[in-house]
Amino acid sequence: MSGVRIAPSILSADFAKLGDEIAMMERGGADWVHVDVMDGRFVPNLTFGTKVIETVRKRTSLPLDVHLMVVEPERYFDDFVAAGASGLTIHAEVSPHLHRQLVRIRELGATAGVALNPSTPLSAVEDVLDELDLLLVMSVNPGFGGQTFIAHSLDKIAGARRMLDAARSGAVLEVDGGINRQTIVECWRAGADTFVAGNAIFAAADPAAEIGALRRQCVQRA
Ligand code: DX5
Ligand code: ZN
Repeated sequence: MSGVRIAPSILSADFAKLGDEIAMMERGGADWVHVDVMDGRFVPNLTFGTKVIETVRKRTSLPLDVHLMVVEPERYFDDFVAAGASGLTIHAEVSPHLHRQLVRIRELGATAGVALNPSTPLSAVEDVLDELDLLLVMSVNPGFGGQTFIAHSLDKIAGARRMLDAARSGAVLEVDGGINRQTIVECWRAGADTFVAGNAIFAAADPAAEIGALRRQCVQRA
Protein backbone atom coordinates (compact mmCIF):
# COMPACT_ATOMS: atom_id res chain seq x y z
CA MET A 1 0.00 0.00 0.00
CA SER A 2 3.02 2.24 -0.23
CA GLY A 3 2.68 5.36 -2.28
CA VAL A 4 -0.88 6.19 -1.16
CA ARG A 5 -1.31 8.82 1.55
CA ILE A 6 -4.68 9.53 3.12
CA ALA A 7 -5.08 12.90 4.84
CA PRO A 8 -8.43 13.25 6.64
CA SER A 9 -9.56 16.88 6.84
CA ILE A 10 -10.58 18.01 10.32
CA LEU A 11 -12.90 20.54 8.68
CA SER A 12 -15.57 17.82 8.78
CA ALA A 13 -14.75 16.66 12.32
CA ASP A 14 -16.99 17.14 15.34
CA PHE A 15 -15.15 19.89 17.23
CA ALA A 16 -16.90 19.06 20.48
CA LYS A 17 -14.80 15.88 20.50
CA LEU A 18 -11.75 16.80 18.47
CA GLY A 19 -9.47 14.61 20.60
CA ASP A 20 -11.60 11.54 19.86
CA GLU A 21 -11.69 12.41 16.17
CA ILE A 22 -7.90 12.56 16.04
CA ALA A 23 -7.67 9.22 17.87
CA MET A 24 -10.09 7.81 15.26
CA MET A 25 -7.83 9.02 12.43
CA GLU A 26 -4.81 7.34 14.01
CA ARG A 27 -6.75 4.13 14.57
CA GLY A 28 -7.82 4.16 10.94
CA GLY A 29 -4.23 4.51 9.73
CA ALA A 30 -4.31 8.10 8.46
CA ASP A 31 -0.97 9.26 7.12
CA TRP A 32 -1.43 12.99 7.66
CA VAL A 33 -3.95 15.27 9.33
CA HIS A 34 -5.20 17.96 6.92
CA VAL A 35 -5.95 21.33 8.57
CA ASP A 36 -7.97 23.84 6.51
CA VAL A 37 -7.31 27.46 7.50
CA MET A 38 -9.80 29.91 5.95
CA ASP A 39 -9.92 33.67 6.39
CA GLY A 40 -13.31 34.79 5.05
CA ARG A 41 -11.48 36.77 2.35
CA PHE A 42 -9.74 34.39 -0.05
CA VAL A 43 -12.64 32.02 0.56
CA PRO A 44 -16.07 32.89 1.97
CA ASN A 45 -15.74 30.66 5.00
CA LEU A 46 -13.89 31.19 8.30
CA THR A 47 -12.24 28.38 10.21
CA PHE A 48 -9.31 28.23 12.58
CA GLY A 49 -5.76 29.36 13.32
CA THR A 50 -2.80 28.86 15.61
CA LYS A 51 -4.71 27.59 18.63
CA VAL A 52 -6.30 24.69 16.78
CA ILE A 53 -2.99 23.74 15.14
CA GLU A 54 -1.40 23.68 18.61
CA THR A 55 -4.26 21.60 19.99
CA VAL A 56 -4.06 19.02 17.20
CA ARG A 57 -0.26 18.91 17.52
CA LYS A 58 -0.55 17.96 21.20
CA ARG A 59 -2.86 15.07 20.36
CA THR A 60 -0.92 13.36 17.58
CA SER A 61 2.51 12.84 16.14
CA LEU A 62 1.13 12.51 12.60
CA PRO A 63 2.33 15.18 10.16
CA LEU A 64 0.04 18.23 10.09
CA ASP A 65 -0.68 19.24 6.50
CA VAL A 66 -1.83 22.85 6.82
CA HIS A 67 -3.76 24.27 3.85
CA LEU A 68 -3.81 28.07 3.94
CA MET A 69 -6.85 29.48 2.16
CA VAL A 70 -5.95 33.02 3.19
CA VAL A 71 -4.69 36.22 1.63
CA GLU A 72 -1.17 37.28 2.65
CA PRO A 73 -0.35 33.78 3.93
CA GLU A 74 3.21 34.84 4.82
CA ARG A 75 1.83 36.65 7.88
CA TYR A 76 1.16 33.27 9.48
CA PHE A 77 4.20 31.16 8.54
CA ASP A 78 6.21 31.64 11.73
CA ASP A 79 3.30 31.15 14.12
CA PHE A 80 1.91 28.10 12.36
CA VAL A 81 5.25 26.33 12.15
CA ALA A 82 5.90 27.15 15.82
CA ALA A 83 2.45 25.73 16.61
CA GLY A 84 3.41 22.43 15.00
CA ALA A 85 2.57 22.56 11.29
CA SER A 86 4.69 20.06 9.34
CA GLY A 87 3.85 21.48 5.95
CA LEU A 88 2.32 24.75 4.77
CA THR A 89 0.46 24.94 1.46
CA ILE A 90 -0.29 28.37 0.05
CA HIS A 91 -2.51 29.33 -2.88
CA ALA A 92 -0.82 30.57 -6.06
CA GLU A 93 -3.74 32.97 -6.63
CA VAL A 94 -2.79 35.10 -3.61
CA SER A 95 0.98 34.66 -3.70
CA PRO A 96 2.66 37.00 -6.19
CA HIS A 97 6.03 36.29 -4.59
CA LEU A 98 5.65 32.53 -4.68
CA HIS A 99 9.36 31.81 -4.91
CA ARG A 100 10.22 33.91 -1.87
CA GLN A 101 7.35 32.45 0.12
CA LEU A 102 8.29 28.83 -0.62
CA VAL A 103 11.91 29.49 0.29
CA ARG A 104 10.76 31.03 3.57
CA ILE A 105 8.57 28.04 4.47
CA ARG A 106 11.53 25.71 3.93
CA GLU A 107 13.78 27.99 5.99
CA LEU A 108 11.37 27.55 8.87
CA GLY A 109 11.79 23.80 8.59
CA ALA A 110 8.41 22.95 7.09
CA THR A 111 7.60 21.43 3.72
CA ALA A 112 6.48 23.95 1.13
CA GLY A 113 3.33 23.42 -0.92
CA VAL A 114 1.34 25.32 -3.53
CA ALA A 115 -2.39 24.84 -4.13
CA LEU A 116 -4.12 25.62 -7.42
CA ASN A 117 -7.80 26.44 -7.69
CA PRO A 118 -9.75 24.63 -10.43
CA SER A 119 -9.42 27.65 -12.73
CA THR A 120 -5.67 28.18 -12.17
CA PRO A 121 -3.36 26.59 -14.75
CA LEU A 122 -0.38 24.40 -13.90
CA SER A 123 1.89 27.02 -15.47
CA ALA A 124 1.49 29.01 -12.21
CA VAL A 125 4.04 26.68 -10.55
CA GLU A 126 6.23 25.81 -13.55
CA ASP A 127 8.98 28.21 -12.49
CA VAL A 128 9.13 27.20 -8.82
CA LEU A 129 9.36 23.42 -9.12
CA ASP A 130 12.78 23.37 -7.43
CA GLU A 131 11.28 25.04 -4.36
CA LEU A 132 8.21 22.82 -4.25
CA ASP A 133 7.70 19.87 -1.87
CA LEU A 134 3.99 19.47 -2.58
CA LEU A 135 1.57 20.42 -5.34
CA LEU A 136 -2.09 20.49 -4.32
CA VAL A 137 -4.64 20.27 -7.13
CA MET A 138 -7.99 21.53 -5.85
CA SER A 139 -10.81 19.44 -7.26
CA VAL A 140 -13.50 21.78 -5.86
CA ASN A 141 -13.55 25.54 -5.41
CA PRO A 142 -12.12 25.87 -1.91
CA GLY A 143 -14.17 27.05 1.04
CA PHE A 144 -16.42 24.20 2.10
CA GLY A 145 -16.41 20.47 2.71
CA GLY A 146 -18.85 18.10 1.07
CA GLN A 147 -18.75 19.54 -2.47
CA THR A 148 -18.86 17.55 -5.71
CA PHE A 149 -15.60 16.58 -7.43
CA ILE A 150 -14.94 18.57 -10.63
CA ALA A 151 -14.20 16.00 -13.34
CA HIS A 152 -11.80 18.22 -15.28
CA SER A 153 -9.40 17.91 -12.32
CA LEU A 154 -8.36 14.50 -13.66
CA ASP A 155 -6.74 16.05 -16.75
CA LYS A 156 -5.00 18.54 -14.51
CA ILE A 157 -3.67 15.82 -12.22
CA ALA A 158 -2.36 13.90 -15.24
CA GLY A 159 -0.72 17.09 -16.52
CA ALA A 160 0.78 17.77 -13.10
CA ARG A 161 2.19 14.24 -12.96
CA ARG A 162 3.85 14.75 -16.36
CA MET A 163 5.20 18.15 -15.33
CA LEU A 164 6.69 16.86 -12.05
CA ASP A 165 8.17 13.76 -13.68
CA ALA A 166 9.70 15.80 -16.52
CA ALA A 167 11.36 18.05 -13.95
CA ARG A 168 12.47 14.98 -11.94
CA SER A 169 10.63 16.52 -9.00
CA GLY A 170 9.91 14.35 -5.99
CA ALA A 171 7.06 16.65 -4.90
CA VAL A 172 3.96 15.10 -3.41
CA LEU A 173 0.94 15.36 -5.74
CA GLU A 174 -2.10 15.91 -3.54
CA VAL A 175 -5.77 16.27 -4.47
CA ASP A 176 -8.41 17.92 -2.29
CA GLY A 177 -12.18 18.15 -2.66
CA GLY A 178 -14.92 15.61 -3.32
CA ILE A 179 -12.68 12.60 -2.78
CA ASN A 180 -14.64 9.41 -2.19
CA ARG A 181 -14.33 5.71 -3.06
CA GLN A 182 -15.03 6.41 -6.73
CA THR A 183 -13.09 9.60 -7.36
CA ILE A 184 -10.00 8.47 -5.43
CA VAL A 185 -9.34 5.65 -7.90
CA GLU A 186 -9.54 8.00 -10.87
CA CYS A 187 -7.18 10.48 -9.21
CA TRP A 188 -4.76 7.72 -8.29
CA ARG A 189 -4.72 6.45 -11.88
CA ALA A 190 -4.15 10.01 -13.10
CA GLY A 191 -1.02 10.18 -10.95
CA ALA A 192 -1.94 11.65 -7.56
CA ASP A 193 -0.42 10.02 -4.48
CA THR A 194 -1.99 11.94 -1.56
CA PHE A 195 -5.69 12.34 -0.94
CA VAL A 196 -7.52 14.73 1.35
CA ALA A 197 -10.94 13.51 2.43
CA GLY A 198 -13.43 15.16 4.73
CA ASN A 199 -17.03 14.22 4.12
CA ALA A 200 -16.25 10.74 2.77
CA ILE A 201 -14.57 9.82 6.07
CA PHE A 202 -16.58 11.72 8.67
CA ALA A 203 -20.02 10.94 7.21
CA ALA A 204 -19.19 7.23 6.87
CA ALA A 205 -20.85 4.73 9.20
CA ASP A 206 -17.38 3.69 10.38
CA PRO A 207 -15.01 6.63 9.80
CA ALA A 208 -11.85 4.81 10.92
CA ALA A 209 -12.57 1.91 8.55
CA GLU A 210 -13.29 4.32 5.70
CA ILE A 211 -9.68 5.53 5.76
CA GLY A 212 -8.50 2.00 4.95
CA ALA A 213 -11.30 1.52 2.44
CA LEU A 214 -10.21 4.61 0.51
CA ARG A 215 -6.62 3.42 0.48
CA ARG A 216 -7.57 -0.08 -0.68
CA GLN A 217 -9.51 1.34 -3.61
CA CYS A 218 -6.26 2.61 -5.11
CA VAL A 219 -4.28 -0.52 -4.47
CA GLN A 220 -6.92 -2.99 -5.64
CA ARG A 221 -7.71 -1.15 -8.83
CA ALA A 222 -4.14 -0.16 -9.68
C1 DX5 B 1 -12.15 22.62 0.86
C2 DX5 B 1 -11.06 22.12 1.77
C3 DX5 B 1 -11.01 20.65 1.85
C4 DX5 B 1 -12.25 20.03 2.44
C5 DX5 B 1 -12.48 18.76 1.72
O1 DX5 B 1 -12.06 23.98 0.72
O2 DX5 B 1 -9.79 22.56 1.32
O3 DX5 B 1 -9.85 20.18 2.50
O4 DX5 B 1 -12.16 19.76 3.81
O5 DX5 B 1 -13.70 18.23 2.09
P1 DX5 B 1 -14.45 17.10 1.25
O6 DX5 B 1 -13.56 15.89 1.23
O7 DX5 B 1 -15.71 16.90 2.04
O8 DX5 B 1 -14.70 17.64 -0.14
ZN1 ZN C 1 -7.98 21.53 2.17
